[in-house]
Amino acid sequence: MPSLKSNRVLQHPGEAKSDERRFESKVNVPENNRRTLIDLLNARLSDTIDMQTQAKFAHWNVKGEDFYQLHLLFDSIAEHVENAVDLIAERVTALGGRANGTARQVAANSSIEEYDLNVMHGMDHVRALLKSLASVANASREGIKQCATLGDDATADVFTEIVRAADKDIYFLQSHLQGGNTTYGH
Ligand SMILES: [Fe+2]
Repeated sequence: MPSLKSNRVLQHPGEAKSDERRFESKVNVPENNRRTLIDLLNARLSDTIDMQTQAKFAHWNVKGEDFYQLHLLFDSIAEHVENAVDLIAERVTALGGRANGTARQVAANSSIEEYDLNVMHGMDHVRALLKSLASVANASREGIKQCATLGDDATADVFTEIVRAADKDIYFLQSHLQGGNTTYGH
């Protein structure tokens, strides 16, 4: 999916990467690969924090006859995404990097699209969240492959755990739009 914007992994706008402090790590991954992995993880950290705020936005603002179940579902998705955020950020620091997760860093670096702020009704929120979560999951899925080429099975495992949880939530969201007895389409 082109939305990955993989080149952006190595280009954090507004950041002088060479000046960014890195810490010693006994993790046995070659230094150059560690830098790339840290950049990759920080790119996905931005996406994932952005995603968490979008799920909360949906949780707070959803309206309509399905309000209560969607209010709960969106909050459970936000919790799962928050778990992913922590996994990614702490993998950055385990590799000796700085976890770039302030709101401003995330706004500058996220590769997912901004949520449609005009969305109000339940299934429209489902569709909007599905789109964002699929972008996040697919970017992390790509991360698994990138880690394989960088010789870091442990970071690949972090991404695998994240993708597995996100895919389940994608299924939960998408099931609302399927079944044939709906006017909401695919
Ligand atoms: Fe709440």
